[in-house]
Amino acid sequence: MSDIFGRPPRPLEVDLAGKLAVVTGATSGIGKEAAWELARMGARVTLVGRSLDKARAAVDDLVARGAVRDRLDVAAADLARRSAVRALADDLAARHLRLDILLNNAGCYPARRTLTADGFEESWATNTLAYEILTTRLQASVVAARGRIVYVGSTQAGDLDADDLDWTRRRWNGIRAYRQTKQANRMLAWVWATRLAGTGATINVAHPGGVNTNISGRQTGFYGMLAKVAFKTQRTPAHGADVLVWLAASPDLAGKSGGFYKDRRELTCRWKSETSANQRLWQRCQQQILEPVA
Ligand SMILES: NC(=O)c1ccc[n+]([C@@H]2O[C@H](COP(=O)([O-])OP(=O)(O)OC[C@H]3O[C@@H](n4cnc5c(N)ncnc54)[C@H](OP(=O)(O)O)[C@@H]3O)[C@@H](O)[C@H]2O)c1
Repeated sequence: MSDIFGRPPRPLEVDLAGKLAVVTGATSGIGKEAAWELARMGARVTLVGRSLDKARAAVDDLVARGAVRDRLDVAAADLARRSAVRALADDLAARHLRLDILLNNAGCYPARRTLTADGFEESWATNTLAYEILTTRLQASVVAARGRIVYVGSTQAGDLDADDLDWTRRRWNGIRAYRQTKQANRMLAWVWATRLAGTGATINVAHPGGVNTNISGRQTGFYGMLAKVAFKTQRTPAHGADVLVWLAASPDLAGKSGGFYKDRRELTCRWKSETSANQRLWQRCQQQILEPVA
């Protein structure tokens, strides 16, 4: 749907009045644009930020662009902290007994290996585990609305070692750690698609393309400089957000689940057929969600 110059397709026009949406990572980049599009089409959107101040500032920006303030809500959590994500999920579940759209978008690309307070590698905790906590704890609300879950994945995916998710045995490398989280997003989404089959709720994974956002902002040195310059040549956040919004709202996707999409077109996914590995990873994540960490 995007033309050869990489322009975004025509914005979607769907009446989302009365629909409830939650967008994580809504304070910047792709998530902020997705929140804007959903609000523009009439949805009531909860913008999830790292802090309430950041989320409120994003709301102010959307209102300045023409969004209706009364339809925008805020919530906050450090998505790298498991207890904070659990509390966020419980808060959102209490606010939304039914939820039409859950957009798991927040993501990070750290410059060095950092363990969270819970002992998880930071990109794993943020890009994968937080999606799993929110999906697990909000699934009843999404099912009640026969709603849609969207995971933001990437074609930058691979390097997953289910026995070394926190990189204690392997030499940590930022891009490999990031790729692991994005492989996991897809593997886990395929399990969710099976689990949600027959409920009316769906889940799909979006690849936004290469997008000029803050995602490489923490990279330093020569590589950091190169990454930032390279990102400047990429598509706009609005263009990147298009496929997320399309998956979340387009009638074309009604009832469709378990697909990986870029530019409103389905891509193949090499992990779709690895059902038992996907199931094992899903079980491992469910344990990580619940288990106390030493
Ligand atoms: N840009 C690309 O080329 C590209 C390509 C493929 C996939 N993606 C994916 O697209 C998604 C959005 O990324 P983006 O490119 O829009 O980058 P971005 O501009 O850096 O946005 C990331 C968002 O996630 C939030 N976030 C990160 N860590 C968080 C934490 N611990 N707690 C709460 N919020 C947190 C950020 O909040 P703060 O601003 O407070 O950090 C920000 O709102 C990510 O999942 C990314 O992997 C991006």
